[in-house]
Amino acid sequence: MYSELVSYRASVDEIRKHNPAALILSGGPASVYSDGAPRMDPAVFEQGIPTLGICYGAQLLALELGGRVEKTGAGEYGKVDMRVDGGKLFATLPAEQTAWMSHRDTVVAPPEGASVVATSEHTPVAAFEHHDKRWYGVQFHPEVVHTPHGQDVLKNFLYDVAGAEPVWTPAAVIEEQLERIRAQVGSDRVLCALSGGVDSAVAALLVHRAVGDQLTCVFVDHGLLRKGEAEQVVETFGGHFHVPLVHVQAQERFLARLAGVTEPEQKRKIIGEEFIRVFEEEARKLGDLKWLVQGTLYSDVIESGGTDGVAETIKSHHNVGGLPADMKMKLVEPLRLLFKDEVRRVGEELGMPERMVWRQPFPGPGLAIRIIGDVTEERLETLREADSILQEEVRKAGLYRELWQSFCVLPAIRSVGVQGDSRTYGYPIAIRAVTSEDAMTADWARLPYDLVELVASRLVNEIPAVNRVVLDVTSKPPATIEWE
Ligand code: XMP
Repeated sequence: MYSELVSYRASVDEIRKHNPAALILSGGPASVYSDGAPRMDPAVFEQGIPTLGICYGAQLLALELGGRVEKTGAGEYGKVDMRVDGGKLFATLPAEQTAWMSHRDTVVAPPEGASVVATSEHTPVAAFEHHDKRWYGVQFHPEVVHTPHGQDVLKNFLYDVAGAEPVWTPAAVIEEQLERIRAQVGSDRVLCALSGGVDSAVAALLVHRAVGDQLTCVFVDHGLLRKGEAEQVVETFGGHFHVPLVHVQAQERFLARLAGVTEPEQKRKIIGEEFIRVFEEEARKLGDLKWLVQGTLYSDVIESGGTDGVAETIKSHHNVGGLPADMKMKLVEPLRLLFKDEVRRVGEELGMPERMVWRQPFPGPGLAIRIIGDVTEERLETLREADSILQEEVRKAGLYRELWQSFCVLPAIRSVGVQGDSRTYGYPIAIRAVTSEDAMTADWARLPYDLVELVASRLVNEIPAVNRVVLDVTSKPPATIEWE
């Protein structure tokens, strides 16, 4: 279903302009009684638009519409047993359910005329409904996986209460974007920088489908990708999809500039600068191109505060693909309305290979920030081999998609070992695997010991330079995901 994030400050007119099938008021950390807590124009609730408040959103509905919200002194955090009694939100769902709660204040009386349709031990109003006014509220979080029937609650609200149709399918998204892209660029030529990641790849394929060979892709190969990745980009785009592709083999330039550089920020800066320089040179060779494709996602739009500061500005972007401000090209951003999971589904629908669609995030500066100290061709080769063994075994174990990232790091120390009765003085490899929702925080992944053992023994047996394997067991914070 197509959805947009809109600020709580939006006026009734602005909201009406979107012609929404329904409104969902999100949760949030504030108490409805704290200074500066987000409040909405209550007139929004009198428009007959089906409205579902979640947690803070439910409390706000209660507060504005004649109910009561109190600090009961007993907050609820985590999984809670909930009893359901009728209600459209819970139609066909079991009377006893588990719900995930995270709140201090609680609704003690629902909006005037609303009925209470769920309760838990500490929450007298775990859900309420007012059919005539079309107000719905849930104190728990239906959007998290720890609420097993949460998705059903959301579906009941959207399909049955709001009568919305699930028509935002990958095929429909593609059709809509093709039209937009054609209308935007007309018969002009378009340029796209491919990084090997899923976002730029899907954006490029969409544009190619829309305007064919008006698109030229430039793939700057900085030599810091993992084993087989550059080949895959070339094979997929040039070979399979027949997208006009300039493959710039810039490995030597990057390595030359990185020679002797060990300071992490310095490495990042050099790679970023060099990337821009190479890209600009290639773009110039292609003549006067007016349009540049960027794989901006809806989450980037939100994070950079592009939706009227609805969410706090979370991080500034640090993509190697970040292009110079003085490049006077206009942007084509076909993924601007999509979240990452939707981009992946669009990629699948476009026929992109599974490996590319489901690739774990990979930093722009590539393996250079996973090699501590000097980045040399030899050390890159060692890390590439190590990483490919880890990837292969993680995939075989069926864990690849569950992990946010899994990779190897090559530290700049050596240690003593013994192999085949002789002393070795080799490098260790560190295995880093994390689970995360958004990379802001991450937990070290509890990889099965059998898997760790298998990977460790393959690493020392198959890579002569490696004689020891360690497992990184730090979360973020205090560590970061990458080592540099
Ligand atoms: P850290 O190491 O800060 O990384 O915990 C958080 C996430 O961001 C990725 N990362 C980058 N991605 N360009 C990128 O496109 C970069 O320069 C960069 N540095 C880190 C990292 O892989 C992790 O997913």
